Amino acid sequence: MSSPPGRKERGSILAAKEQTGKAVLVVGGAGYIGSHMVKALLEGGYDTTVFDNLAAGHRDAVLGGRFVQGDLADTATLDALFAAGRFDAVMNFAGSIQVGESVQKPGLYYRNNVANTLNLLEAMVRHGVRHLVFSSTAAIFGEPVRIPIDEEHPTHPVNPYGRGKLMVEHMLADFDHAHGLKSACLRYFNAAGADPSGLIGERHEPETHLIPIALEVALGKRGHLSVYGEDYDTPDGTCIRDYIHVSDLCQAHLRALETLRRTDRSLAVNLGNGQGFSVREVVDAVRAVTGHAIPLKIDARRAGDPARLIADSTAARDHLGWRPQYPGLQDIVRHAWTFHLNRAVPHPLAQAA
Ligand code: UFG
Repeated sequence: MSSPPGRKERGSILAAKEQTGKAVLVVGGAGYIGSHMVKALLEGGYDTTVFDNLAAGHRDAVLGGRFVQGDLADTATLDALFAAGRFDAVMNFAGSIQVGESVQKPGLYYRNNVANTLNLLEAMVRHGVRHLVFSSTAAIFGEPVRIPIDEEHPTHPVNPYGRGKLMVEHMLADFDHAHGLKSACLRYFNAAGADPSGLIGERHEPETHLIPIALEVALGKRGHLSVYGEDYDTPDGTCIRDYIHVSDLCQAHLRALETLRRTDRSLAVNLGNGQGFSVREVVDAVRAVTGHAIPLKIDARRAGDPARLIADSTAARDHLGWRPQYPGLQDIVRHAWTFHLNRAVPHPLAQAA
């Protein structure tokens, strides 16, 4: 499945690198957040190379730069990639993301998210690339003991997904100590929304996330939305989450990358809006944006769902100078809806073919 970059590709990588001096390898750049990151990097004048095995990503979501299909498990391909690219920094979005699946298939999660990331770190050390922005998660904290969740909150993950991400954070501290590899660990809360252009957005198969599922109901692809529990200790009984617009998330990555380059010091920050919205509030926003009734069925609680997860994003604001541009739920839902509508309308050329 994976093949090393060809001779011609290597030449173009080097030429582009010499032009900008800002060459970034985006691992998992064909996925939901990775593809938005590539767009933000290109708009910021960076030179991008995406490395993705396309297990979950989509080639057509990569809007520019170079694309190399390959897998982090394949260290020979990784070596060829690094030798050709002479990257200044790496961003790693690759990995499996379903909490429930991680409980059923822990081996898959420890392999994809821990062992494969170790391959990446070792390749970075071998090739002298010293800056990494890493996609971590609020799931490293487990059941919250206080809200909002700041960086000092205890880390007691309650599933293999969260435990694997925390293991990588520990590995990164050790690689900094031993090899001077500096990293920015960004703990995402609920990434949501889509690029305002509507060109790229969230396309998971199967889809498990609240906002895209509610939009699929609005499109008639599903008959109803299951609400996983309405007996939580929250004002309306449904779970509260901190939804952060994917474009804001990517701007925070750009700031983290610039901060790493400027300070040459590792950092770890929580990334959320700092506001919580309940499942019912999300559904109301989807109703307002789409004009669709969104029928609900009240279902049992989903295992492992804490009642509330809200980030304290003070550190991201203070240390990265980051502010969310789209903190409102309506903007997040509206941009996701634009993307879903674009995908639902068949392209005229596709019909003709
Ligand atoms: N929910 C429903 N019905 C659905 C889908 C979700 O009621 O059909 C509820 C969930 O129970 C939860 C909320 O909507 O209360 C949000 O659920 P998501 O599945 O959209 O997101 P999660 O909060 O479960 O997970 C997200 C990321 C994970 C990450 C986690 C960190 O997707 O990768 O946040 O806490 F680990």
